[in-house]
Amino acid sequence: MEDTPSVEEKAAITVGLDTWHTVALPALGIRSIEMADGPHGLRQQAEGDGDNLGLGNSVPATCFPPATGLASSWNADLVERIGRALGDECRVAGIDVLLGPGVNIKRSPLCGRNFEYFSEDPLLSGRLGAGWVHGIQSRGVGASVKHFAANNQETARMTVSADVDEATLRELYLPAFEHIVKTEKPRTVMCSYNRINGIPAAEHHWLLTDVLRTEWGFDGAVVSDWGAVEHRAPALAAGTDLEMPGPQRGSVDDVVAAVSSGELAESVLDTTVARLAALAAHRATPLASFDEDAHHDLARDAAAESIVLLRNEGGILPLDPSRPVAVIGEFARTPRYQGAGSSQVVPTRLDNALDAIREIAPTEFAAGGPEAVALAERSETVILFVGLPPEDESEGYDRTHLNLPADQLELIAAVAAANPRTIVVLSNGGVVTLEPWHDSVPAIVEGWLLGQAGGGAMAQLLFGLRDPRGRLAESIPFRLQDTPAFLNFPGANDHVLYGERIFVGYRYYETVGVPVRYPFGHGLSYTTFDYADLLVTRASARLTVTNTGTRPGREVVQAYVSAPDAARPRRELRGFATLDLAPGESRTVEVPLDARSFSKWDDAGWVEIAGDHRVEIGRSSHDIALDGVVGIRGPRRKLLTLDSRMSDFLANPVIGPILRAASAGAMDGGTNLLDMVKSVPLSRLARFPGVGDRLKSLRLLLPVANNRVIHFAASFFRSLFTSRKSKLRPT
Ligand code: BGC
Repeated sequence: MEDTPSVEEKAAITVGLDTWHTVALPALGIRSIEMADGPHGLRQQAEGDGDNLGLGNSVPATCFPPATGLASSWNADLVERIGRALGDECRVAGIDVLLGPGVNIKRSPLCGRNFEYFSEDPLLSGRLGAGWVHGIQSRGVGASVKHFAANNQETARMTVSADVDEATLRELYLPAFEHIVKTEKPRTVMCSYNRINGIPAAEHHWLLTDVLRTEWGFDGAVVSDWGAVEHRAPALAAGTDLEMPGPQRGSVDDVVAAVSSGELAESVLDTTVARLAALAAHRATPLASFDEDAHHDLARDAAAESIVLLRNEGGILPLDPSRPVAVIGEFARTPRYQGAGSSQVVPTRLDNALDAIREIAPTEFAAGGPEAVALAERSETVILFVGLPPEDESEGYDRTHLNLPADQLELIAAVAAANPRTIVVLSNGGVVTLEPWHDSVPAIVEGWLLGQAGGGAMAQLLFGLRDPRGRLAESIPFRLQDTPAFLNFPGANDHVLYGERIFVGYRYYETVGVPVRYPFGHGLSYTTFDYADLLVTRASARLTVTNTGTRPGREVVQAYVSAPDAARPRRELRGFATLDLAPGESRTVEVPLDARSFSKWDDAGWVEIAGDHRVEIGRSSHDIALDGVVGIRGPRRKLLTLDSRMSDFLANPVIGPILRAASAGAMDGGTNLLDMVKSVPLSRLARFPGVGDRLKSLRLLLPVANNRVIHFAASFFRSLFTSRKSKLRPT
C-alpha cells in the first residue's frame, strides 16, 4: 500500500507551508492552496516580497469600504455584490480562500479593530456577513468567517480570556457566526487568538466541535488565526484543522507523538485530513483580469450607501452646486479610507473628496490654521473634514478614549465660530464622540472609512447627486463612561469579564435609559417617510411605507421586539428591510420574524418567552413609530419533580390551587409563607423539621399533576371559572 500516507505525512498537512499556503499531500491528491486577507479588499503579498506578511506592499486591489462603513448600508445585497467582486479579484490572483468576513460584535467602541467589524448587533452582523460569504463563494472562492469567538478587543489579544456566560455567548457573540454557518456553508471558519472562559479558542472543543459542527452542522475546515495555536495536538483534537502560518516543525512532531502515544486517535487526524482534502478540492475557475473601473464604481456605490447623515438642521444639505463652497481640512485632500493592520490593501486608485467637490461646485480649499479660519469667515458655506488620524486606531491595540485629537477640536471650534453654515464630515473607523462641538454646527455627516472611492461618493451626496441612505450600525454615545463595558474593558491580568452580559450597545442604553447622542439605527435622508397599517404576527411585521417628501429615498424599516420579561433588554432588533421609494410612492413591506425573535437562551436551549411581546417598528432603536402585540404561549409545561421550585408547584393548575387554599391562613407578619419560599426546591423545603411530613401529600399528587389529561382538564375548568367570574362581575 505505497499510496497510504504515513501519520507524519498526514500531520504535515495540518500545518501551513508558509505564511499563506498549505502543504500538499499528493498521495491523497490534495493540492496546496493559497489564502490571503480580507475582508474589504485582497491583500496578496507581492511575489518575492521580503515583507513576510505583505502588509506594506501587496498587489494593488480594489479597496472597498471596510465593514464599519459598509454596515451602515444595512444592505446585504450590496455586501453580496462586493463579495462577488472580491471573488473575481481572487480568481485573477489565484487565491483560494479570502480571510473574511469579520463578524465580531462591537462590544466597546474602544476596540482597535472595530473598523473591521460590522455592528454592535448580532442580527445585522450576521445578515451582512452572510451576504459577503454568499457573494464570494458564488464565484468559487472560499470565505473564512472570523474571529471565532468572543474576540472583542486587541489588548492582550493572544492571551486574554473572555470570561462570558453561555447565554451571553449564545444570544450576542455567536449568532452572527451561527447564521452564516447555517445559511451559507462557509468553507472555513477562523478561530480567534483569545481564550474563552480560560480555554484557548483553538483548543475549545465545545466551541469548535460541539457547537460549530454538531449543533450548527458546519462541515468546512477550521483555520487558526495566524499564530493562535499554542499546542497542536489538543487544538487538533478540539477541531482546529489547519494551523497557520507554517512551517512549524514542532507542531507536526507534536501531532505524530500524540498519535503514537494514543493521546490522539488517528481517526481524529484522518477526519481533519478529509476536511482539508475537501477544502483543497474546491477550485475556482481562473479569471484573466477583472474590470478595475467597474469595481471602482461599485466601491463608490458602496461608499455612498455607507455614509450616515446624522444632523441636517434647516435642511442645509444638500448644497446647491451653483454656489461656491470652502473646503477645509487635510482629510478632504488626503483621505483616511481604511484601517491599519492585516486588512490593509494597496488600492488600485484613490479618489479624494476635494477633487470630486471641485468637479461639482466652485471650490476654495485650506488644510487648516489661520489660513483656514479666514477662508471660513469670508465663505458662504464650509465643508469641514475632520477625523481620527491613522495611528489612533489599528489592529493590535485598543483606543483609550473616544475624542477627536485636540487640533481637530480646535479647528472645529474656530471654523464653526467663523461660519454658522459649517458642515462637518467625519472620517473614523471606531465611533468618536461629537462633543462638545455637536450643537455648534448645523450638519454632521458620518463618513466612517469609505474605501478607495469614498471621496467621489461623499461629494455627490453633499450636493444631492445621491441621497443619504446609511443608518447607524452602532450607537454614538455622549461619553465613554456611558458605554456598557466601561467598567470591564479591557480587563486586567489576562481576564476580561463580560459583566454587562447581553446588554451591549443599544440593548444597554435603551434598557437602562442612558441617553446617547445618536441611537443605533439612526440616519437621515433628504426625504421623509411615513409608516402606517402595521400588522404583526409570529411570522412577520407588515406595514405600508410612504415617501412623503419631494426626493427619492431609501428607507430602512427596523423591526424590534420587546419581550414581556423585565430581565430582558428593552428591545432587540429582530428583522429589517430596505426599500427605495419615489416621491409620493407607497409600498407594503414585510419583515420576516421567527421563533428566535421571541426566544431567549435558557440554561440548555432556546425557549420562547411566554406572554405578550411588543413588535416595534422604529426609525432607530430609540424612535419607535408603530407597535403591535404578538402573544406567545411559551414552552411546554415542565414536568414537576421533587426538585422543582415551589413557584413551579404554585403555577401548576392541579397543585397550585390546592396549595394556595391550604396555606390561606399561613401568614407570618402579613406575608404568605408560600410566597416566602417560592424559590426553594421542594426537596430542600422538606429538610426543615416538621415540614417534610406535611409535604408528603404533595409528593403523592405529583403523578396526577403531571398527567397531561388531568392537567388539561384542570386548566380548562380554571379558565372557565375565571372568565365566568369576570363576566358576572357587576360593571
Ligand atoms: C489577524 C487575522 C488575519 C491574519 C492573517 C491575524 O493577525 O487577526 O484577521 O486574517 O492575521 O493576516
